[in-house]
Amino acid sequence: MTTVFYRAPRKEYPTISHGSGVYLWDTTGRRYLDGSSGALVVNVGHGRKAVAEAMAAQASQVAFAHTMRFTSAVQEKLGALIAERMAPEHYYAYFISGGSEATETAIKLARQYHLERGEPERTKVMARYASYHGNTLGALALSGHLTRRRPYAPLLASQAFVHFDVPEEHSPDEPCACLQAVEARIQQENPSTIAALVIEVVGGSALSGFVPHAGYLEGLEALCRRYGILFVVDEVMTGMGRTGRWWAHQEAGLKPDMMTLAKGLSSGYSPLGAVVAHENVWETVRQGSGAFAHGFTYGGNPVSAAAGVAVFDIMEKEQLVEQGSRAGDSLARRLAELAARHPVVEAVRGRGLMQGLVLPSLPGKPGSVATALGDDAFQNGLIIYPGSGSGKSPEGDHVLVAPPLTVSEAELDELVELLEASLRRVSERMGLA
Ligand SMILES: Cc1ncc(COP(=O)(O)O)c(C=O)c1O
Repeated sequence: MTTVFYRAPRKEYPTISHGSGVYLWDTTGRRYLDGSSGALVVNVGHGRKAVAEAMAAQASQVAFAHTMRFTSAVQEKLGALIAERMAPEHYYAYFISGGSEATETAIKLARQYHLERGEPERTKVMARYASYHGNTLGALALSGHLTRRRPYAPLLASQAFVHFDVPEEHSPDEPCACLQAVEARIQQENPSTIAALVIEVVGGSALSGFVPHAGYLEGLEALCRRYGILFVVDEVMTGMGRTGRWWAHQEAGLKPDMMTLAKGLSSGYSPLGAVVAHENVWETVRQGSGAFAHGFTYGGNPVSAAAGVAVFDIMEKEQLVEQGSRAGDSLARRLAELAARHPVVEAVRGRGLMQGLVLPSLPGKPGSVATALGDDAFQNGLIIYPGSGSGKSPEGDHVLVAPPLTVSEAELDELVELLEASLRRVSERMGLA
């Protein structure tokens, strides 16, 4: 008998025992290849003693000191490690405990920025349909993830959040109708009422591995500049080397006003997130009221910051961004070959070690194919990350394949073999083939 309220109370969960590299073991001795790094979290892999030791050393020196009164050397160090990788622009990191808190913080910081500048009418925040920015009520209201929103729709502030469409693929010679549509949406809402626009650079749980066409993100950034809207990139999933660069937005040469981080920042060793704000935002608050009217008890937690610093250290020593990029190319190639053998896979998309498989949806049962594939894989020793939704519809199944950045070629072989076996079984069972 358990007294734990599980995510799915009717389900039985194996008890986790330990992890090492890309593998996890439960207490019965069963081994799992973590083909999605949890939920794209454990970028440096499981069982890293150096991270555990750094956290223990910090905890035994001081585990908590409220950020209302203190900073800590370890938080300063972590801020510098992030800021160095955002150069030549100057950025400042505000630390919190995860991705949803990062989104809430970015929304509030955008609001305060405009208040400081004497534009109190800027109250709205824009995001894409089929996006996911977190599960707290503000972050969920911003998110366009239809199935996660649905039960809570009456609780989600609607006037403050404006959604726009997922861009369509088009030829580089044509003018981008998708950007024109976003601009029309901005004008319809009245540009001077919009505080920020938040975008995932590569689609995560709402749109596994979706990469918009060339020029789209640059176009969104230009629209934000034109209308005085803060441009925020959500790199909770894509940051920390996941897509082959430190930050996914570097691929398009973007200069965001804010970037949100979590997941890979501590690689799951401790709850940690950050809002990384451009110095314009920081300077506006510093010279304005002088205080960001916001804060969480565990913000800037020294033990979590120590995990983050140790993760950066491992990533540099082992050159995991470069290694992840190479492994990502290899994974993408293998998944394309898999899709060629299994037409049930409608598309493979993604960047680096963040690859999505697009699957068919059963009519009226969005997510059931992706869930069945995820469950079958799990029962057979492979962890992948199922999702559903496409554009403005909850239909459309997909899964993310995103192992730790340390993954070897032999482990990729094993991953794809296990995935293919599950795909075969699920296609047969559900009559998809
Ligand atoms: C892009 C993105 N933003 C925000 C979040 C929310 O992060 P958390 O679950 O740490 O609150 C997630 C979580 O999956 C995410 O993928």
